[in-house]
Amino acid sequence: MNLAGQTAIVTGGSRGIGRAICKALAKQGARVGFCHADDPKAVDTLAEISALSEGFSFACDVSSETEVAAFFASSEQALGLPTILVNNAGILKESPLTKTAVLDFDRVIAVNLRGAFLASRAFVRSSKSGRIIFIASDLGVLGREGMVAYCASKGAIISMTRCLAHEFAPDILVNAVAPGSIATDMTSPDSMSPEALAKDLATPLARFGEPEEIASMVSYLAGPDSKFITGQCFGVNGGSVMQ
Ligand SMILES: NC(=O)c1ccc[n+]([C@@H]2O[C@H](COP(=O)([O-])OP(=O)(O)OC[C@H]3O[C@@H](n4cnc5c(N)ncnc54)[C@H](O)[C@@H]3O)[C@@H](O)[C@H]2O)c1
Repeated sequence: MNLAGQTAIVTGGSRGIGRAICKALAKQGARVGFCHADDPKAVDTLAEISALSEGFSFACDVSSETEVAAFFASSEQALGLPTILVNNAGILKESPLTKTAVLDFDRVIAVNLRGAFLASRAFVRSSKSGRIIFIASDLGVLGREGMVAYCASKGAIISMTRCLAHEFAPDILVNAVAPGSIATDMTSPDSMSPEALAKDLATPLARFGEPEEIASMVSYLAGPDSKFITGQCFGVNGGSVMQ
């Protein structure tokens, strides 16, 4: 129970990677407040967290300043001041550059990047120590055709990690996890083209990762064994990026 007595906030915690992160942190004893985009799966996720620890769920849009403020205020009232923030909420929309509408580009940046900025700012305004963990992507390093907004947002998340690591040392340690392809709704055949899915498998380990394989790295970065680590981006990616 490495995180007993701590409170974590996870954005986009209702399903997929976020849900696995919420459960991993709750298993370590943390109280966990998560938000989601009005996702019916949040009900089951909250029940699973509550079986392990204390939980709190809130529907909001992370790209909205007022909604993020309301999420943090409600979570603090329910679970106390957070000591861990996981910026996980994200969306992906495939389209070639010439067919990408400005509104679609802006929406991906607003959720993936502005959302992480708003939640991080809300966190550091109230919490003076702890951990911030960003969920980036291997595609933020590699880039990929047809995913300009997504890759740009994730590259920027890696930069934001380094900025905040500088700005809040030594009180708040800030790191990122950059997953490779993970089996979630985001990588289902309904959400991604066959070409993109084939590329996802073209890695040394040649398989999709499981959400729990990301959650265990997040759990380590949130815990006491990582206290000499800040400003880093950890690839959990089956070898898609080697550095
Ligand atoms: N699945 C992958 O292969 C993969 C790979 C690399 C990085 N990632 C990143 O991991 C994170 C989680 O991805 P996932 O695969 O679990 O996705 P998912 O689609 O399964 O879950 C996304 C979560 O984010 C929430 N969300 C979406 N838009 C939101 C908004 N505007 N406001 C609040 N919450 C919102 C959803 O409700 C949900 O809880 C994302 O940042 C994604 O970019 C995923």
